[in-house]
Amino acid sequence: MKTILVTGGTGYIGSHTAVELQNKGYNVIISDNLSNSSADVIDRIEKITGVRPIFIKADLSKEQEVSVIFDTYHIDGVINFAAFKAVGESVEKPIEYYMNNLQIAMNMFVNMKRKGVKYFVQSSSCTIYGEPDKNPINENCPPKFAVSPYGNTKQMVEDMLHFITRDGLIQAIALRYFNPIGAHPTALIGELPNGVPNNLMPFITQTAAGIRKELIVFGDDYPTPDGTCIRDYIHVVDLAKAHVVAMERCFECRNKINFECFNIGTGNGFSVFDIIKSFEKTTGIKLNYRIGKRREGDVVAIWADTSLAEKELGWKAVLTLDEMTLSAWNWQKTLNKEKIL
Ligand code: UFG
Repeated sequence: MKTILVTGGTGYIGSHTAVELQNKGYNVIISDNLSNSSADVIDRIEKITGVRPIFIKADLSKEQEVSVIFDTYHIDGVINFAAFKAVGESVEKPIEYYMNNLQIAMNMFVNMKRKGVKYFVQSSSCTIYGEPDKNPINENCPPKFAVSPYGNTKQMVEDMLHFITRDGLIQAIALRYFNPIGAHPTALIGELPNGVPNNLMPFITQTAAGIRKELIVFGDDYPTPDGTCIRDYIHVVDLAKAHVVAMERCFECRNKINFECFNIGTGNGFSVFDIIKSFEKTTGIKLNYRIGKRREGDVVAIWADTSLAEKELGWKAVLTLDEMTLSAWNWQKTLNKEKIL
């Protein structure tokens, strides 16, 4: 069976992807510097799948550390999650974000070429579209000027891949995620935000758990049916499976061009109020929230046209919004029980 290097594999999306890869029988090597995740995620992946992935703690922004991994193991494909990911922080520390996120990607490309590793799946984001002119948005819509260095690094890695894959020695797929939420049904892995969460779902679960006093809904005067922003929330398990099929598309040489991009969402737009309602319904908890000011940089509404992923990857999200919010809560309960947060 093929071996896949999962960078950032102890993180939120990486850990769920490692589980899905192992469920399909792939050998998984996880490398992570644990700057925003914990080594016990490896135990949890083992608990879920019955298989312990190889784990290498490494700073992947250092070429030397990456080359050791490629020299030690035979690798058939790389899925690259390793990156700094906080939008606000990236505005404060742009150079750190460019250095880290671009250097990690470059170190992968250099070592893949050196060792003849051909296949690369990149964690990208719908953030590259900016505010859509129309919804649902498809992959042909040109990216807009990034509003944050974080989003810019996602765009830049895609730009690099256009040129790096031209000779065909590396073939790549970028998955443009919409808004991943939820957690594994075992509630053994999930999102582990560092400090006060920036994102909606962990803020909701932490508020319900009493860790945060209240959720502030960032604006209810947007031009949307209920006045709150609309996003395409996708269950992290569906998203993880998209990585498996993307890698398999490469292995089976089904890719049409050397670098392909796919939207990974459900194709449905939900408002902030929709998320709150679903959370209250599935958990029976009344959420303490109030309406606050708009958050700078928020797009009004975005959801995905997923037809390309359906047609080419044979992938479609199947889990519902209620399954997303309930699984997020079950994970929060694990965190409470184990006093992780
Ligand atoms: N929101 C609130 N209150 C909160 C947090 C969020 O009302 O405390 C609202 C936001 O205004 C937005 C929605 O909930 O309308 C979703 O916000 P998130 O922060 O969860 O997600 P974003 O869509 O802002 O961010 C996502 C990804 C980022 C990516 C960004 C690009 O998480 O990685 O899209 O737009 F960069």
